[in-house]
Amino acid sequence: MEIILATQNNGKIKEFNELAKGTEFNFIPVPSNSTFPEETGSTFFENASIKANFAFSLTGRTCLGDDSGLEVDALNGKPGVHSSRFSKKATDESNVDKLLNELKGIPHEDRSARFKCCLVLIQEGTANLICSEGSVEGKIAEEKRGDRGFGYDPIFLPKGSLLHMAEMDQEKKNLISHRANAFKSLLEKLSSGLTEK
Ligand code: IMP
Repeated sequence: MEIILATQNNGKIKEFNELAKGTEFNFIPVPSNSTFPEETGSTFFENASIKANFAFSLTGRTCLGDDSGLEVDALNGKPGVHSSRFSKKATDESNVDKLLNELKGIPHEDRSARFKCCLVLIQEGTANLICSEGSVEGKIAEEKRGDRGFGYDPIFLPKGSLLHMAEMDQEKKNLISHRANAFKSLLEKLSSGLTEK
C-alpha cells in the first residue's frame, strides 16, 4: 500500500522505506513541484499535522507527516521544534557547534537529551488520523564523533551506547531511533485499527 510521505527529501523517503521493510507499506514523495507551508507549530505534533494536512489536501491519498528534533534538558528543551534552524546559518555543522558552545562547562551527568519524533497519518477515504510518538534518550557528548547520519548525530550518545549516533550504520540506528520507535508504534495502531479524532 502506497503512503505519500509529506516531504521532498529523498533521504527521508529511503529511511522510511527501510523502516517499512517487511510490511505492506511503500512510501512515495509528494509531487515535486509542491511548495510546502511553513512549519509554524510550537510542538512536533503541530508541525507533523501541518505537513500531513498539506499532503492530504494536495493528493487526497493516505499521507504521513513527520516532525522531529532534539530536546536538551539543560536548555529547558531547546532546540526542540527549532532543531533545524537553531543557529543563524542553520547548517548541521553550525547547529552542532552552537549546541556544544551553549553546553560548555556543563558536566556529563547534566547533559541529558532526547530525540523525539511525531508521526501523523491521515487515511484516504475516511480522513481518520493516527498519531504516534517515539523517542531515544541519551546525552550530548562533549565532542563530535562519527561521520554518518545527519543533524546532531555526531554529538548524540544514546543511553547504554559507547558509540555516538553518527558512528552507527543506518541498520543499527534504525534499531533505536526516535523515528523507528514512532513508526513501530504507528504500525501497532494501524494493525489494531485504532484511530484518533
Ligand atoms: P525533521 O523534522 O525530521 O526534518 O528534523 C528536524 C531537525 O531535527 C533536523 O534538521 C535535525 O537537526 C534534527 N534531527 C531530527 N532527527 C534527527 C536524527 O535522527 N539525527 C540527528 N538530528 C536529527
